[in-house]
Amino acid sequence: NDTLGIALIGCGTVGGGVARVLLAHADRVTQRAGRPLELRRVVVRDPSKSRDPLIPLDIISTDIHAAINDPGVHVVVELIGGTGLAKRVVLDALAAGKHVVTANKALLADAGAEVFEAARRADRTVCFEAAVAGGVPVIRALGESLAANQVTAIQAILNGTSNFILTAMAEGGKSYADALAEAQKLGYAEADPTLDVDGSDAAHKLAILAQIAFGVAAKPHEIARQGIDTIEAIDIRFANELGYTIKLLAEAWTGGHSHSGNGAKLSRSGAVPAEPTVALHVAPVLLRHTDLLAQVRGAYNAVLVYGDVVGETLYQGPGAGQMPTASSVVADLIDLGVGRAQRTFAAAKLWSREDRGFTVEPP
Ligand code: NAP
Ligand code: HSE
Repeated sequence: NDTLGIALIGCGTVGGGVARVLLAHADRVTQRAGRPLELRRVVVRDPSKSRDPLIPLDIISTDIHAAINDPGVHVVVELIGGTGLAKRVVLDALAAGKHVVTANKALLADAGAEVFEAARRADRTVCFEAAVAGGVPVIRALGESLAANQVTAIQAILNGTSNFILTAMAEGGKSYADALAEAQKLGYAEADPTLDVDGSDAAHKLAILAQIAFGVAAKPHEIARQGIDTIEAIDIRFANELGYTIKLLAEAWTGGHSHSGNGAKLSRSGAVPAEPTVALHVAPVLLRHTDLLAQVRGAYNAVLVYGDVVGETLYQGPGAGQMPTASSVVADLIDLGVGRAQRTFAAAKLWSREDRGFTVEPP
């Protein structure tokens, strides 16, 4: 039969949401995929933890190898996180001839080239809509809908936890520690929340966007980063009194050397210069209260993209949390079922170093 068998490796915040959508909305998912998507294996670290009652107990185990190599499994969904075991899971799944769906931006920023080369060799697909901006379909927007453009700049709020903390401190008068604890409780934060608050998670996501928009594989040291971990309540109060909001922005600006060699920065929708460079950085910035990105509250993310044909477009929505992230993971699964993801996420298309001539500026 044509059922698409799924193994969920990791069933915590995001995995639990994916299981719920697949099981509670099976009819909808089947209709949209044109074939049944069946959750056949769920792998966790501690099988004694209580899980969603819709998940049949007999499909839960700790055996990653058995899940990946089950002939009834066609797609492996990696939702463990981190860059160690998760990388092994993804590479083993591809080697076993399985498609992969992941929300793991740290892994893709760290080892994307290796993962996509393995996918190309195996003729399998790696889908990762959930890895950037949670439930906001920004990978498809950049990779497909803006295909007529060369992107000239990106300005984005890419870490839901940081935006949640800044909003709670500014509007709710919460302390930094209380706001972070609440973000963790709500399932927004990484297992190691340092990655959220020191700018690393936003840098990982910016590296992925830069790969797609500019064809560059930015190395970690090429993205200067500063987080919100040094911002105090008094900074937020003074900024507010002066008419500003503090936001953690991830930015990519193209520039480069024109033929006259003056190296001027491009305007937002300006033409791409002959030898273009792209500068990538993450930092807290002061935005006027009236600025579009200043309006983005809580765990929402927003991505402003400047394209040389379209001009300015904005993508906004929930950037972290269980169901928004599950929404993107299940969309990838449906697209695999339909056969669409194999085109959208083709290794040679989305994650190649298709030569657009860009180099990354040293920070
Ligand atoms: P999480 O809640 O910590 O869940 C991790 C899952 O992995 C748990 O089910 C855990 O098992 C399982 N696991 C850990 N080590 C394992 C091992 N050695 N063997 C088998 N299973 C193991 O993490 P999460 O928040 O869902 O995040 C998962 C991924 O999604 C990460 O890459 C994260 O960056 C990404 N992401 C998260 C969000 C979000 O809002 N949370 C949004 C976008 C992307 P137990 O349940 O038994 O502990
Ligand atoms: N910890 C991440 C964030 C989850 O807060 O944005 C979504 O990638």
